[in-house]
Parts: sequence; C-alpha cells; structure tokens
Amino acid sequence: MTKNNQLHIQVLSDLEEISHKAAELFTAISRSCIEARGRFVAAISGGSTPVRLYALLGSDQYRNRVDWSRIHFFWVDERCVPAYDQDSNFRMAYENLLSTVPVSPEHIHRIKGEEGPEKGARAYEEEIRNFFGITGNEIAPVFDLIILGIGNDGHTASLFPGSKALDERKDMAVPVVMKGPKKDRVTLSFPVLNNAQNIIFLVSGNSKAGIVQTVLEDKDKRCLYPAGIINPVHGNITWLIDKAAAHLLKTIE
Ligand code: 6PG
Repeated sequence: MTKNNQLHIQVLSDLEEISHKAAELFTAISRSCIEARGRFVAAISGGSTPVRLYALLGSDQYRNRVDWSRIHFFWVDERCVPAYDQDSNFRMAYENLLSTVPVSPEHIHRIKGEEGPEKGARAYEEEIRNFFGITGNEIAPVFDLIILGIGNDGHTASLFPGSKALDERKDMAVPVVMKGPKKDRVTLSFPVLNNAQNIIFLVSGNSKAGIVQTVLEDKDKRCLYPAGIINPVHGNITWLIDKAAAHLLKTIE
C-alpha cells in the first residue's frame, strides 16, 4: 500500500480521542503550511465521523491555534442536493465549523451539487483549475490535507466499489450517478486524492472492523476496495481508528 515511512496507523480509544488527535494534526499541518507558503488548502469529507472534529476545531480549545484567514476549504465529495439540504456535506461542515470561525467566503470552495452530477463536476473541475492555476491536462493540485472516511463497503469519498468513477485518470472532479433512490454525487478522483501531501482517515465503530482489517492487512484483497487504493504518491497517510473499528487488526497492539 504505502511505503512504511509514509503510513501511520494509530488506534485510539474512541471517536472523541480520534477527533482530538485529528484536530491536533489539522492545527499542526495548517501552521507549517502557512509558515512555508502562506496558505493551507484542505479537502474535507462528509459522513458522521468528522462531525466532532469540525466542532472541536471551532471550539475554544482549538480555534485560536488556526489562522482561519489563510485556510481554503474544498470538499472530497458532495451529494447532488441544495447547499443547505440535510444530506449536504457543505451544510454539515458549515453548521459545525465554517459558520463558527472567521473563514472568508471566497475561501470556501464548495461543490455545487445542486447543479447535478455532470454540471456540478464540471464546475468543480473549473474551480480547482482556477484555484491551483492548472492550464494543461496534468493532475496537478496538491492538497495540503485531505480528510477521508471509509464506508462498510470499502468506499471512500464518493468512490464506490465497481463504479465508473474509479477509472478516472484525467478529470479531477467526477460525476457519480447512483442506482435507485440514492442521491447522485460529485467526487474527487483517485489521482487528486493520491496527490495530497497529507491524508487522514477517520474511522470509528465496530461495523468498520472488517473492512479496516481487509484494507490495512489483506494484501490480496485491499485493491478490490476504493479505500485500499488510497496511496499517496509523495505524501503521508494517517489512519486514526478507534478500538472498536480496530479490533480485528492483527498487526496492531
Ligand atoms: C460522505 C463521504 C463518505 C464518508 C463515508 C464514511 O459524504 O458520505 O464523504 O465517503 O466519509 O461514507 O461515512 P461515516 O463517517 O458516516 O461512517
């Protein structure tokens, strides 16, 4: 999966500890990026696991440790719903973090899911190109930090097992048309995710134990799952896993 020096796996007692550890990493990485380049560019996930992290970042304990004026927020994926819909990843981050800290509205680069998967993906591609100054065909953006989750089926971002989006190597933002009543989505593609400088996976709960074991320890099977294909080309990957989600791991104490 990754070279050992780039892969860190930390088992923590519960979601609260994971969230504090992630908040520490977020503040430390943001500080060093801002010192080095004057800005910090993060792409964040939806789902339930990062809710506590976002709330912590805006709390008295952490909010003054971050220079919010220098941070740009992108999303790893979004559902094709209005911005403030219950299912919107933007809404979740806005309510739990962005509305509580002094981030400039121009630094909030949300995915316009309400435009539908094709148009929403094209608009997001354009947003990323403009922000990073990409003019050619190269997959060039290097996000300073990408926060990911994993589903019980091994999906990450909106890269689901067996879906067309998994094969995307050219575009950075990809439409994901879901079967049945599930909401369509827009997601970042593998090349963008794997180009990140830092990736943090947040994983909590017993129901994730099987997929976590497969993705982290089963060399033959992990590539069958999108989360197992996350392998940063140059960057670091840190898995923050709680005891319940880690209890099937054999190589971790
Ligand atoms: C989303 C995601 C998705 C999520 C996983 C884990 O918007 O749903 O970005 O990839 O991270 O499904 O979700 P939980 O944190 O709810 O387990």
